[in-house]
Amino acid sequence: MQITFLLNGETRVVTVNDPTQSVLDWLRGEGLTGTKEGCNEGDCGACSVIVTDETGAKPLNACLMMLPHLHGRALRTVEGIAGPQGALHPVQEAMIAHHGSQCGFCTPGFIASMAAAHLNGRKDHDDLLAGNLCRCTGYAPIIRAAKAAEEAPVPDWMRDTPLQMPEISSGVRGQTAPTFLPQSADDLAEWYLAHPEATLIAGATDVGLWVTKQLRELGEVAFLGQCRDLQRIEETADGFAIGAGVTIAALRAAMATPHPAFAELLRRFASEQVRQAATIGGNIANGSPIGDGAPALIAMGGRLTLRKGAARRTIPLEAFFLEYGKQDRAPGEFVESVTLPKSAPALTCYKLSKRFDQDISAVCGALSIPREEGRIRAPRLAFGGMAGIPKRAAALEAALDGQPFTEAAITAALPALEDDFTPLSDMRASARYRMEAAKAMLIRYLREAEGAQSILEVQP
Ligand SMILES: Cc1cc2nc3c(=O)[nH]c(=O)nc-3n(C[C@H](O)[C@H](O)[C@H](O)COP(=O)(O)OP(=O)(O)OC[C@H]3O[C@@H](n4cnc5c(N)ncnc54)[C@H](O)[C@@H]3O)c2cc1C
Ligand code: FES
Ligand code: FES
Repeated sequence: MQITFLLNGETRVVTVNDPTQSVLDWLRGEGLTGTKEGCNEGDCGACSVIVTDETGAKPLNACLMMLPHLHGRALRTVEGIAGPQGALHPVQEAMIAHHGSQCGFCTPGFIASMAAAHLNGRKDHDDLLAGNLCRCTGYAPIIRAAKAAEEAPVPDWMRDTPLQMPEISSGVRGQTAPTFLPQSADDLAEWYLAHPEATLIAGATDVGLWVTKQLRELGEVAFLGQCRDLQRIEETADGFAIGAGVTIAALRAAMATPHPAFAELLRRFASEQVRQAATIGGNIANGSPIGDGAPALIAMGGRLTLRKGAARRTIPLEAFFLEYGKQDRAPGEFVESVTLPKSAPALTCYKLSKRFDQDISAVCGALSIPREEGRIRAPRLAFGGMAGIPKRAAALEAALDGQPFTEAAITAALPALEDDFTPLSDMRASARYRMEAAKAMLIRYLREAEGAQSILEVQP
C-alpha cells in the first residue's frame, strides 16, 4: 500500500510493506535521527513529534504511531522545528536561555511538545509536558523556558496544512490486501464482517506495544483513524453519544462543562501525547481491568452500542465486561459508540496511582452518590483495579441505598465492599491496600461533599 503525507513541509509518498512499522523506526531509517527512542512504549516522550490533521496540531509519540496513521496528515519532526535557514524556534531559543538541556537526549522530544503547545497557545505546561521525561536537567528550567516562549509569535514554517485527503489507492482497500483504511463506520462494518479475525487499530496506544514489546505479528489489520463518523460527539435528547474514535484529549475538552469530574479524571489519563492518540473505543474494547474510562462511564450509567454489519445492539456498559480478558463482543462486531447522560452532578472520580501523572491506576473509583433529603438514593459505584474487570460494587450500593448521608452510616455499610471484590496483589498495590483505599474513597467523597478541600486544590 502507498500512503501520502507531509514531512516537514514536503509531500512524501511512501510504500508501506509492514503496516505495523512504527513511525519512529521509519524516521530513524530515513536518517531523521533527531527523534529519539527511549522506552519505545509511550512513557518517556523522547520520540515526540507534531502531527497536524483537520482537527489541529498535536504532539504524538512516534513510537506508538504506525505508518498508515500518517496518511493524509502533516508530520513535523525536530528537524523541521528549526527554520529553513537554521533559524531557531522560540522554544529552542528559550531552552538555551534557560539552560533547559544537559545531556540532551530528552530535548528533541521536549522541543516537539513545547512547539506544539506554543502553536496551540496552550499554557498548561505541567500537564502538557508530563509525558516528557528528563533525567538530568530537572523540570524547573524547562517549564521556565516554555513560559518564556509563550508570547513569541508562531514562526510561519510551523503552520502545516494537512493534505486534502488523498485518494486511497485500490491496494489499500482491496479485499486481499492485509491492511484496510475504512473511511466510515459503514465501510468498517462491511469489511469486518468479512474479516472477523483482523485486528482493529485505533490510536495504537495498546496495540503498538503488542508489536514493540511482545513482537507480535498482527496479520490483517484495519486502521480506524479515517472514520470521521466515529469521531463525533453528538448531543442527544438524553445526553451525549460519543463515537468510538473520539480521542481522550477531545473527550476531555468536550466533557469539561457537562461532566467536570470525568474531565478531571481524563487529565490524569496517561500523557498529552497518549491522550491525543488513544480513543475511548479502544479504552473500552481492550477490556482492561485498570482502564480509567470504564469506571466513570459505568458510574454515569453509560450504554455501549456494538455493531456487526448493519445490526446494532446497545447494552449497559458494565454488561460488556464478562471476565478478565473476555468481553461480550462477537467476531466481526465492533464498538461504535457509548452514551452518557447530560449531567451527573453527584459523580466524583478518584484515581490512585504511584505517580500523579502518566501512570496507570492502582485503584480507580467512580462514585455517584445522589441524595434526597439527606438520604442516599440509587448510588452507582464503579471501580477499576479491584477485580479482573471494571465492575460495579453492587453489594455496597445496596447497603448504602436509603441510608443517611453520614459518616456513621457510610462506615457501617463499607464492609459490604468485601462482598463485591477480592482484589489481587501486584506491583501496583497489595490486595489489602486496594481494599482500604477503595473504602477510603467513600469517606473522602463524604468529606469533600461537606466542604473539605482536596489537597490538589491547594495553591501555593
Ligand atoms: C504510556 C501509556 C500510558 C497509558 N495510561 C493510561 C491511563 O492512564 N489510563 C488508561 O485507561 N489507559 C492508559 N493507557 C492505555 C491506552 O492508552 C488506552 O487503553 C487507550 O484508550 C487505548 O485506545 P487506542 O485507541 O490507542 O486503542 P488501540 O491500541 O488502537 O486498541 C486497543 C484494543 O481495542 C481494540 N479496538 C480499538 N477500537 C475498537 C473499536 N472501535 N471496536 C472494537 N475494538 C476496538 C483493538 O483491536 C485492541 O484490541 C496507557 C497507554 C500507554 C502506552
Ligand atoms: S520512545 Fe519513549 S515515548 Fe516513544
Ligand atoms: S537533558 Fe538529559 S535526560 Fe533531559
